[in-house]
Amino acid sequence: MTSLKVLMVGGAGYIGSICARVFADAGATVWTLDDLSTGHEEAVTGELVHGSILERSFLIDLLKRLQPDAVMHFAARSLVGESVNHPLAYYDTNVRGTLNLLTAMQAAGVNRMVFSSTCAIYGPPRYLPIDEAHPIGPISPYGDSKEMIERILSDCRAREGFQITTLRYFNAAGAMPDGSLGEAHDPETHLIPLALDALLDRRPPLKLFGRDYDTRDGTCIRDYVHVLDLAEAHRLALARLLDGDPGASYNLGTERGTTVSEILNAIARVAGRPVPYKDAPRRPGDPPALFAASAKAREELGWRPAFTDIDDIIRTALAWAQTPRYGRYATKG
Ligand code: UFG
Repeated sequence: MTSLKVLMVGGAGYIGSICARVFADAGATVWTLDDLSTGHEEAVTGELVHGSILERSFLIDLLKRLQPDAVMHFAARSLVGESVNHPLAYYDTNVRGTLNLLTAMQAAGVNRMVFSSTCAIYGPPRYLPIDEAHPIGPISPYGDSKEMIERILSDCRAREGFQITTLRYFNAAGAMPDGSLGEAHDPETHLIPLALDALLDRRPPLKLFGRDYDTRDGTCIRDYVHVLDLAEAHRLALARLLDGDPGASYNLGTERGTTVSEILNAIARVAGRPVPYKDAPRRPGDPPALFAASAKAREELGWRPAFTDIDDIIRTALAWAQTPRYGRYATKG
């Protein structure tokens, strides 16, 4: 990877920043393009280009100047609930932003992209585990925007000479094991950071959304996949594009479902004390169970998630949560 030049779009965010670090550690030259609306300057690896994917002419100039071998596209609005109330902002940033990026790439003769997609494009599961052949049917503007982008990308792959791989993440979790990078959303909506904040007494007890689902303990099942494993999938996906592959779509999950109660138990095991929580009604739109079939990523990309034990994922998340270097609870000094 030593002579490789990669532009990380949205590289100041949770997954993008960890991916940027992994690529830089492997010897790639990395630039981060981010508008810092939700990302953190402290999380950036390599040179930060402060700018927005909504500015097309700026993107064209940038891509022409940098001439990267590939673009990793993480930039998006990504709050499912918010997308229901503000759909236009989601379509604008996610869809128009991606169109701008593709147009700029084409103008600059840059044709490789790895795109951050989501299991939300499948909607409520018709069967489990969810493989790539599962019908597409998102139920939120966030999911819709990602599906629209995937359609655009597939046309660009087929007709415009792009090589593009889309990676459909399940529930990204965990932090850089050395404690340098982690999750710092504001607002935070995700289970593990909220549970850790409750454990660390800086938020009220976690609200456990629904105990009456048809699952083994009544709480929702999700497939938590470590961010470092997502970063590794990006590395493998790009290697395949560099080999001349046109690109494809892959589900990225551990293929193991974990319930909300099991997450709370894992945190209690790792931290040595229980997470304060209280039962709350179901959160609208939450499917009872979601977990991936990732055989395609394993077979075609050679992807092997290293973090298969939820306790190991929690351990890295806890270490980060105790001393976050940036974000609302950053520890000073
Ligand atoms: N949960 C709680 N209490 C909370 C927060 C979450 O009980 O305070 C529960 C949820 O009900 C759900 C589980 O924890 O059962 C996981 O919730 P998250 O919000 O952490 O994650 P989601 O599964 O809702 O979201 C993920 C991705 C989204 C993606 C979505 C698709 O983060 O980007 O899956 O369903 F769109």
